[in-house]
Amino acid sequence: MDLKINQLNRLKGELVIPGDKSISHRSIILGSLADGKTRVKGFLESEDCLNTLAAFRAMGVTIEKIRPGEYIIEGVGLYGLKEPEQVIDCGNSGTSMRLLAGLLAPQNFYTVLTGDHSLRHRPMDRVIEPLNRMGAKIWARKGKYAPLSIQGSKLQGINYSLPVASAQVKSAILLAGLYADGDINLIEPGLSRDHTERMLIGFGVDLQKDGNKIHLSGETEKRLYPQDLQIPGDISSAAFFITAGLITSGSEILLKNVGLNPTRSGFIEVVKKMGGEIEFLNPRKMSGEPVADILVKSSKLHGITIEGEIIPRLIDELPIIAVLASQAEGKTIIRDAAELRVKETDRIKAMASELTKLGVEIEELPDGMVVQGPARIRGGVKVHSYGDHRIAMSLAIAGLVADSEIIIQESQCINTSFPEFVKILRSLY
Ligand code: S3P
Repeated sequence: MDLKINQLNRLKGELVIPGDKSISHRSIILGSLADGKTRVKGFLESEDCLNTLAAFRAMGVTIEKIRPGEYIIEGVGLYGLKEPEQVIDCGNSGTSMRLLAGLLAPQNFYTVLTGDHSLRHRPMDRVIEPLNRMGAKIWARKGKYAPLSIQGSKLQGINYSLPVASAQVKSAILLAGLYADGDINLIEPGLSRDHTERMLIGFGVDLQKDGNKIHLSGETEKRLYPQDLQIPGDISSAAFFITAGLITSGSEILLKNVGLNPTRSGFIEVVKKMGGEIEFLNPRKMSGEPVADILVKSSKLHGITIEGEIIPRLIDELPIIAVLASQAEGKTIIRDAAELRVKETDRIKAMASELTKLGVEIEELPDGMVVQGPARIRGGVKVHSYGDHRIAMSLAIAGLVADSEIIIQESQCINTSFPEFVKILRSLY
C-alpha cells in the first residue's frame, strides 16, 4: 500500500500515544503464567502484540477482550500451558519469537515457532546458544534461523555474560530461568530495556538487579500473582511525533501518557542535546513505569555524536533520529549501532538509501551513519519501507518537510507496531 505524505506546518494539538509494544507483549506472557485473572488496560493492538496474544490462546489460555485495548487474561500458572496443535506464527515479531523460545524451552511439550520472511532471516542463535547451554533442546534452520523447533526439557541455571545488550535475549533467559534448577546470573554489556525485570518483580518474583547484573535464585519455588496493569504510551511511537513537532515550523504538540523508563529514554537525551525544546508535565508512575506528558515545540537543532552506552537505550529510534539529524545544522554521527543491521531490515542501509533519494547527504558506516544537515527534502519522490514499520514511519515524518508530496511504498508494515499512526498523523492536517 502506498502512503502519500504532503508538507505540513504548524502542528497543534494533543495526541494520545498508544500502549508500549514491549510492555504489551510481556503483559500477555506474564499474565498467562500468573495464577488467576490479570486485567490489562492500554494494550497495544498491533500485529506484533496480537501474534503473542494468539500464541497464548493456542496454548490454552483464555484471553477475553473487554473493549479496545482492555483484556482479561485467565492465567493458567507456570505449569498450565498446553501443547499447541499448530505451528506458532510470530509474524514480524522478534520479541514474540525470542521470548517464546525462552519460555517454551522448559515446558513439557513440543512447539515450532515460525515467522514472516524478515523474521525467518533474523539471528536466533543469540537465544538458542544460552538456552541450549541451560539444557534446552532447540533446533533451527542452518543452526540459527526460524523455523525453530523446541522439545521442552529440564533446564539448569546459567552464569552468562551477554555478548550484545539485548532485552530479548535477557528476557528469554529469565523466562526459561523461572523453571530452571539453579541460579541465573546475567551480566549485560550495556543497559537494555528492563521491562521484564520490573514486571517479574511486579508479579511477585524475587529477582535482584544491580546495575548491569541480574540474579534470579533457583532455590525458591516460583509463583506469579495476577495484576491490574495500565500500559504507558510507547516512547518509540511518540518519537515520530516528537520529531514531527521539532522539525516543522510553528508547531506545538502535547503527547499524553508517554513512558519514560530510563532504559528507553535515550531519544529524549538526544533531542535535548540537539537543542530541542521539550518539556515534561505531570510526571507520575504507571504499573511501575515512569510516565509524563511531553510538550514539544518547533526547534532549531544542531548535529551531535551519538555512540556508546546510550545506543541500546534508543536503538529503535535511530531511523527517526536520522530524519531529525537531516534537519539539524551540521553533522550528526551515529556509531556503535551495528545491531541496526539485524532488525526487521538492515536499518542502516534502508535509511541511507531512502534518505539519499530524498536529497539528504548521508553516509553509511559499518556500525552507524553520518548525516549532514540541514537538508532540503525533495518532493515528488517514491521511497520504500523495506517492509519495516519504523522505516516507513520515519520516511513519512520526513515527508512533512518535503517540497511536495512523497510516496512511501509498502506502508502497511506500519501495523506491526502502530496501527493508528496514519490516523493520528492525518488528525494534524
Ligand atoms: C525489544 C527489544 C529490542 C527492540 C525491540 C523490542 C523487546 O530488541 O529493538 O523492538 O521488547 O524486548 P533487542 O533486545 O534485540 O535489542
